[in-house]
Amino acid sequence: MTESDSHALLRIGQLSHQFQMDRENTPVLQDIQLHIQKGEFITLLGPSGCGKSTLFQIIGGLIRPVTGEVMIQGEASTGKSGHISYMPQQPALLPWRSVLDNVLLAAEISGTAGSEARSRASEWLKQAGLAEYEQHYPHQLSGGMQQRVAFVRALMSPQELMLLDEPFSALDAMTRQEMQQWLIRIWEVHRRTILFITHSIDEALFLSDRIYVMSARPGRIIEELKVPFSRPRTDELVLDPDFAAHKHRLYQRLKGEPTA
Ligand SMILES: Nc1ncnc2c1ncn2[C@@H]1O[C@H](COP(=O)(O)OP(=O)(O)OP(=O)(O)O)[C@@H](O)[C@H]1O
Ligand SMILES: [Mg+2]
Repeated sequence: MTESDSHALLRIGQLSHQFQMDRENTPVLQDIQLHIQKGEFITLLGPSGCGKSTLFQIIGGLIRPVTGEVMIQGEASTGKSGHISYMPQQPALLPWRSVLDNVLLAAEISGTAGSEARSRASEWLKQAGLAEYEQHYPHQLSGGMQQRVAFVRALMSPQELMLLDEPFSALDAMTRQEMQQWLIRIWEVHRRTILFITHSIDEALFLSDRIYVMSARPGRIIEELKVPFSRPRTDELVLDPDFAAHKHRLYQRLKGEPTA
């Protein structure tokens, strides 16, 4: 175990997984090793089908891997749920509940939806630019606004580690950029630990402290990149020649791998 591993909020070692498809065992994840320290913004960057969402489900305890272990805050958590807060690719808001009641769902389930939780939820919604929409229903919001509600809901969960599975992939390019900038502003103030999934090299470089680059299926980690850009980051960063150089290299790296 290395120095950095010993303080990890999340540590995954020697993890492999396979699914049965057409009666054959198909390897999906191979020898995954990674660690996340408290307060880091880490991204998994990899092609479609390489096993990213499967890895999230394993971290969330919904799938038990064939081999390997998930350690959360030093405790063996393989196959155990409830340790992380999870924002799926689709916002998955409950259509019959208002924005505020959607955000308060987790607190309600855990019996802590008192006035303190309500005022925290209102404050978060205000920071997300949704103060006037508390009493609206999901279908009355745009896609980007629904994503922000889902994000606020994940923020309201007490778990330190947030998993975000391609949260912006369904949005148009402009809205996506706005959402990235919004996320980075919120994160730079609050520093929750985030594990983020994306196919987008730009998104990974703009947001992350470190990036784990994955190969096509079966997903392996082919590179770990410490992103050298200082914070706070602004949209000007994408014009930096260093940004372009990293982007080009990562593109070549991903292209050099056989695709699924
Ligand atoms: N429950 C399952 N049973 C069988 N095969 C599965 C199951 N879930 C995922 N797979 C397969 O595992 C592989 C990885 O799927 P996964 O959803 O993890 O990929 P991904 O990297 O998240 O892709 P994308 O970027 O398109 O979301 C795919 O080939 C998929 O068909
Ligand atoms: Mg996926």
